[in-house]
Amino acid sequence: MKIIGPFKQVVTLADLPLRGSLKDEQLEIIENAGILIESCKIVKVDNFETLRKEFPNVTLEETEGEQIAMPAFTDCHTHICFAGNRANDFSMRNAGKTYLEIAESGGGIWSSVKHTREATEEELHKTLCTRIDDLVRQGITTIEIKSGYGLKLDCELKMLRAINHAKEKTPAKLIPTCLAAHMKPKDFNGDSEEYLNYVLEYVLPVVQEEHLAERVDIFIEKSAFQPEESKAFLERAKAMGFEITVHADQFTPGSSRVAVECGAKSADHLEATSDEDIDYLAKSNTVAVALPGASIGLGDSFAPARKILDAGGILAIATDWNPGSAPMGKLVTQASILATFQKLSTAEVLAGITFRSAYALGFEDRGVLSEGKRADMVCYKTDNYQNVLYRQGALEPCAVYIKGEKY
Ligand code: NIG
Ligand code: FE
Repeated sequence: MKIIGPFKQVVTLADLPLRGSLKDEQLEIIENAGILIESCKIVKVDNFETLRKEFPNVTLEETEGEQIAMPAFTDCHTHICFAGNRANDFSMRNAGKTYLEIAESGGGIWSSVKHTREATEEELHKTLCTRIDDLVRQGITTIEIKSGYGLKLDCELKMLRAINHAKEKTPAKLIPTCLAAHMKPKDFNGDSEEYLNYVLEYVLPVVQEEHLAERVDIFIEKSAFQPEESKAFLERAKAMGFEITVHADQFTPGSSRVAVECGAKSADHLEATSDEDIDYLAKSNTVAVALPGASIGLGDSFAPARKILDAGGILAIATDWNPGSAPMGKLVTQASILATFQKLSTAEVLAGITFRSAYALGFEDRGVLSEGKRADMVCYKTDNYQNVLYRQGALEPCAVYIKGEKY
């Protein structure tokens, strides 16, 4: 057992609903608090002096200076396993070049596929570990990581093995997802339906056999896979025992509906979701994941987070960190900007990057500082929790705890 403290404020996020809008008045903020931890879990959060009196013989891990603490974050959508760099895509896009012009000049997803195919598993693993470390230092202790720049059996496996290998190198929780259905590779001999069948018949069985991922993702979009073939793909992946998630409604509407119909755990992007589909999604158990990093990276509109919450949906926020559309990889910065443009309360943003995003990955044991939850926390040198979003990411954590241990 140990007590960490004192903290000027601890924002526990306790007793908040999984879905729907939240007011800041609903936040539980314990002033002058201590956090009691035993075997990786929270025992209780209470007034520091009260805790010390109640548990006089428990070790004290004393904080330095004025700090606040809150639950550590979950980034439930990333593509941080990749090789190469697409700075040129970014420059061209900003200078007004079209998607086609960028692809023709050697950019786009296919360029990341070529670089990732050329990289060794060890090279991928090394750069991946650096990006994981970057995320953990931001206070993100649960990280989803997709494959999807291999797009053929050996390369998809190479990516997933690099991701799984990284589990040995970090105390953070890593969740690999197979995104072999990111796009039909240019060198595949057949149509998109045939490629999806190839993934189902040749890729997913090995992924399952080698325990490389328990989740499957697909990019449903005009430029990638169409709704009907995607639905058949998702249903078969689900029947194999995979949890499913979808890149939905990024540029054209219609695919979040497919995600809900297939019982996907989450539908991510949603920049183009129609009002009718917002309602359909919000009434389902599929988590709506906003990816403001892609909106910022592409200069697109933001996902309709306000409408999703008002309609009672489960809204999570993730970075989508990838070499193309979302190169920034800063969760608090992006969530804070989304809040400004979508008019979200601080409670809604914090819920979206903690227990609601953890739920998108199937975890209900984290993202809240209350009894029995995982002692993953992020601490900041400040006297007011509001400064975290106010500084739009410029206020960096002074400490990150994973299972009660300082990172
Ligand atoms: O989530 N939308 C599709 N996939 C990624 C982008 C990947 C890339 O551009 O490399 C996304 O934005
Ligand atoms: Fe993505």
